[in-house]
Amino acid sequence: MLYSSQAVAKPYFIAAIALFAVQVLFGLLLGMQYIPVNLPFISFITFDAARLIHTNLLIMWLLFGFMGSIYYIIPEESEQELYNPKLAIQLFWVFLSLTIITFLGYLLLSYATFAKITGNQFFPTMGREYLEQPTIIKLGLFIVLCGFSYNIAMTVLHGRKGMINLLLLAGIVGTTIIFLMAFYNPSNLVVAKYYRWWLIHFWIEGTWELIMEAILAYVIYKITGDRKIVEKWLYIIVAVTLTTTILGIGHHYYWIGVSEYWQWVGTVFSIFEILPFFFMVLFVFNVVNCTKCQYSNKAVKLWALSTPIMAFLGAGVLGFLHTLAPVNYYSHGTQITSAHSHLAFYSTYVMIVLTMISYAMPILRNRKIVNGGLSQRFEILAFWLMTVSMFFMALFIAIAGIMQVYIQRATDLALPFIEIQNSLMILYWLRSIGGVVFLIGVIIYITKFLIAKSNNL
Ligand code: HEM
Ligand code: HEM
Ligand SMILES: [Fe+2]
Repeated sequence: MLYSSQAVAKPYFIAAIALFAVQVLFGLLLGMQYIPVNLPFISFITFDAARLIHTNLLIMWLLFGFMGSIYYIIPEESEQELYNPKLAIQLFWVFLSLTIITFLGYLLLSYATFAKITGNQFFPTMGREYLEQPTIIKLGLFIVLCGFSYNIAMTVLHGRKGMINLLLLAGIVGTTIIFLMAFYNPSNLVVAKYYRWWLIHFWIEGTWELIMEAILAYVIYKITGDRKIVEKWLYIIVAVTLTTTILGIGHHYYWIGVSEYWQWVGTVFSIFEILPFFFMVLFVFNVVNCTKCQYSNKAVKLWALSTPIMAFLGAGVLGFLHTLAPVNYYSHGTQITSAHSHLAFYSTYVMIVLTMISYAMPILRNRKIVNGGLSQRFEILAFWLMTVSMFFMALFIAIAGIMQVYIQRATDLALPFIEIQNSLMILYWLRSIGGVVFLIGVIIYITKFLIAKSNNL
């Protein structure tokens, strides 16, 4: 470690991994509820509560992962200690408490009771997908984001300014400002829809994408040691992201009650949203000449090279599959959306956080740059189990989605919804088997930290 304040990243990474495991466990419970398995602990948790936990914990732990990554990268890139390491640790405990309260509230209370006791009636912001957290929790999260942005901004402003740290700063300040929209919940449904889409999708297709690109660039720079080429590619990728996202987000306005021209604008611009992912694939394969680079942490190389390929598949290809307005007319809100949500979130954000943890954790634990051999092998096995099972889960659900669209919307059979879902049962079974393999991958991934020994490379 070059700067002692980089150590604040460690608790963030540990919390991220723990919450990741819980999030996946609840995904598996959801998957089980789709198929007729009546285990008592499954029916104890209702589908809606498990879904809230699954999606909300995902957002929370990814933020933990980003914060850890950024706290680790910023001192190095700014060539000085973090402005206020104490604040970083205090904010960690605040954020963890908010996350645990939210989790327990969803688990133990009915959503209506949780809303009532947290005073949603006085300032209603709850009830929208991904923004289900009580208003007071949102307020706490906003304060955490502000403190985090302040700490990072002060460090960057006092230190060396490069492409990577400026981009990270822009990413987190943007994320914080965009989060303000969570507090605006107008009664006009069309306007309210705009704000929900702006918040979530300017995050995941905008500021989060910038953060992801900066983290990827940092890790690739660490592997290759060539800052100039990395920064050159980063300029291109960021420029393409920014120019495609703002109007590309129009692919969410098709059916929310706005003018029809959005079907054209959204379709045309969102097609180009694939480009940044395509450039990221070109970037990593051009820059990492593996015959030359003798980087000893093989797991990091695997994560870093696979992230753009998987992101191209999950966000790019599966995104393209339903982004054209005439296709989306049929596919909107079906299992096709779920297939894309899973592979896109896993490939862009889960994988980039795990890439960074793979790079930074051995250093944070004083293992030089790599864990011992057995631990490396565990990590690589976990990588393959998680990545391959997620690929197949998305594939099965995409097939379920295509069949659903065909039977439910493209023919005149007019079968009841549940009957159609029943005819897709085999695919839901296969998804659950994929989910079990994914969970085994997560367990092996966690085991790797427990068996990590120092390596004298
Ligand atoms: C890192 C891994 C995972 C990520 C990133 C993830 C992400 C998501 C997201 C974003 C949603 C909301 C989907 C939407 O609104 O379209 C969701 C829902 C869901 N997830 Fe996951 N998930 C993961 C793992 C799993 C696993 C292992 C299973 C097990 C089978 C699973 C099963 C489900 C189910 C059944 C739903 C509800 C879909 C519905 O409402 O019909 N997920 N997940
Ligand atoms: C950057 C990574 C991305 C992530 C994590 C992601 C995730 C998601 C999620 C979670 C949803 C469901 C949203 C909800 O119901 O609230 C969604 C919807 C959608 N995404 Fe993405 N996405 C990404 C990139 C893309 C790209 C690049 C495209 C287009 C090329 C795209 C096209 C779409 C479309 C068209 C929908 C709407 C589906 C519907 O109408 O039901 N996404 N995405
Ligand atoms: Fe989008």
